[in-house]
Amino acid sequence: MASTVSFSPANVQMLQARSGHGHAAFGSCSAVPRAGPRLRSTAIRVSSEQEAAAAVRAPSGRTIEECEADAVAGKFPAPPQLVRPKAPEGTPEIRPLDMAKRPRRNRKSPALRAAFQETSISPANFVLPLFIHEGEEDAPIGAMPGCYRLGWRHGLLDEVYKAHDVGVNSFVLFPKVPDALKSPTGDEAYNDNGLVPRTIRLLKDKFPDIVIYTDVALDPYSSDGHDGIVREDGVIMNDETVYQLCKQAVSQARAGADVVSPSDMMDGRIGALRSALDAEGFHDVSIMSYTAKYASSFYGPFREALDSNPRFGDKKTYQMNPANYREALIETAADEAEGADILLVKPGLPYLDIIRLLRDNSALPIAAYQVSGEYSMIKAAGALGMVDEQKVMMESLMCLRRAGADVILTYFARHAAAVLCGMGPK
Ligand code: PBG
Repeated sequence: MASTVSFSPANVQMLQARSGHGHAAFGSCSAVPRAGPRLRSTAIRVSSEQEAAAAVRAPSGRTIEECEADAVAGKFPAPPQLVRPKAPEGTPEIRPLDMAKRPRRNRKSPALRAAFQETSISPANFVLPLFIHEGEEDAPIGAMPGCYRLGWRHGLLDEVYKAHDVGVNSFVLFPKVPDALKSPTGDEAYNDNGLVPRTIRLLKDKFPDIVIYTDVALDPYSSDGHDGIVREDGVIMNDETVYQLCKQAVSQARAGADVVSPSDMMDGRIGALRSALDAEGFHDVSIMSYTAKYASSFYGPFREALDSNPRFGDKKTYQMNPANYREALIETAADEAEGADILLVKPGLPYLDIIRLLRDNSALPIAAYQVSGEYSMIKAAGALGMVDEQKVMMESLMCLRRAGADVILTYFARHAAAVLCGMGPK
């Protein structure tokens, strides 16, 4: 998942091309455009396809030596004539520009473009966020067409099965918690029989090989809708919140979580979580830190999905100012020093510079979160016929990879993985 070098058949010489097997050139799950067997160079061939095939297939019975002797004597069958494609009438006749460098040469055919493609994407790069609730039925999320709050025992298993089927192996869980279980201190967050731990155990039982990420933050459990404990005067209490988060993460680890992901932006939580996990023997549970999480308006649809809007104020005293770049380096240094295994940037597409900044300043795997607002904008524009939803989806994901993300948390994971496996809805 975090590998930086990818292998694609487009990068190797196709030795079997002449034996007729050369056309299965692209791996089943590669974003490289398919260069089908019928592709032809831009030059127009005079001979028909049958003639060409016959010339290859019908040997005259002559030996190699005879053929070579003919060639030496200047007698050989003429190859097909290539004609120059005509320019439209009225095209100015000019002297070609005198330039040594023409970058378009490396873009002139699908095969060349595939060979020189710098970035690749595969379902292994995706983490699918899933909304779960206590109900039996799946409830559509109005602001996120195609996304549902899934019943943890039914719809969820179905969704994981389908995503798994197209190569998505990583999932992150977000619970919609009943209001009656919310409190100012969010204690439901570490109930071992709460929705998330219960769901982790069920998923681990049904799909032992998947990777389960969890969200570590109090907002789904907070009656104030904040990621931490709110003091009377509105201050979000840092260290007390971290204490709760440690209990939450340990409870998730006990249930079988593979990667705990603090999205709360409290100071010092990575080190505290690492110690708490280690103290309970969970040395192998990874921490994906939301290193650079911005106070963004792109989270709107998510908060609707979980009914987790802050009851008052905003999250600006803990989430970062969207105007800030250097500050991400401060968070990066702290998270690295405190033992984070993966660094996450959120949102994704509007923050490509931050993804690149972290990529260039850390050797750790980088994750990008293509958040709910980004998802909904693409869905809405697609539904209105303003853009091609599928193409914009694939491009946005490729751009996150190009900026330096190893993994991408995206609500498009299943759809995009299906496309990469050649079975996407058209
Ligand atoms: C909260 C959390 C949020 C998201 C993930 N975890 C929202 C917030 O910070 O208010 C947003 C994800 C999205 O918009 O898709 N801990």
